[in-house]
Amino acid sequence: MFVVFEGIDGSGKTTLSKLLVEELNKKGLTAVWTKEPFDNQIREVILSKNLDPWSEVFLFLSDRREHVLKVIKPALEKDYIVVCDRYYYSTLAYQGFGKGLNLQKLEKLNNLATEGLEPDIVFILDIDPQKALKRINKTRGEKTKFEKLQFLQKVREGFLNLAKEKENILILNAEEELTKLLSTVLLHILVKLNSAH
Ligand code: TMP
Repeated sequence: MFVVFEGIDGSGKTTLSKLLVEELNKKGLTAVWTKEPFDNQIREVILSKNLDPWSEVFLFLSDRREHVLKVIKPALEKDYIVVCDRYYYSTLAYQGFGKGLNLQKLEKLNNLATEGLEPDIVFILDIDPQKALKRINKTRGEKTKFEKLQFLQKVREGFLNLAKEKENILILNAEEELTKLLSTVLLHILVKLNSAH
């Protein structure tokens, strides 16, 4: 099973997705945690340079392709549960809705990069960008180039729009307590696993 977490910076994806993997492992299921950008060197280039938006997309896409081919697909073939912190929805939300690049082109390119690999379930952690930025300031210090309020407002709207179009996406209120979020997510996954067997 392929599970994806999405949301703006500071929405709590990483904490929740890592906890989920721990819980699944405790239940005797083999779950692995992974993230995008996958390659930290590519992440560094994207964040440190002032790139043309399409150049940025091509870097995210090559990172994604390597990730899918070398990590995600092999783990899915072993029947592991793959929990991924960000996937192609981030490109649609940040570079599409956020930076105004053509969504159809982005979808086509992503399809090429991932060979059409779709997650079974996507959780979007929804939060007011102002609150998310406060969380970031508290925990991480310096903001990256993607962490500006107006930009994140567009990205948030983007994620919410994507959820309207695709049926495997679930929106969660990121301001709920972590334990509540975890049990909601776990329940969805266990139901899906049961219905698949
Ligand atoms: P991270 O902080 O989650 O590692 O991601 C780095 C930044 O890259 C984050 O602000 C979101 C952004 N991003 C995109 O703009 N497009 C993408 O496709 C991905 C995967 C991330």
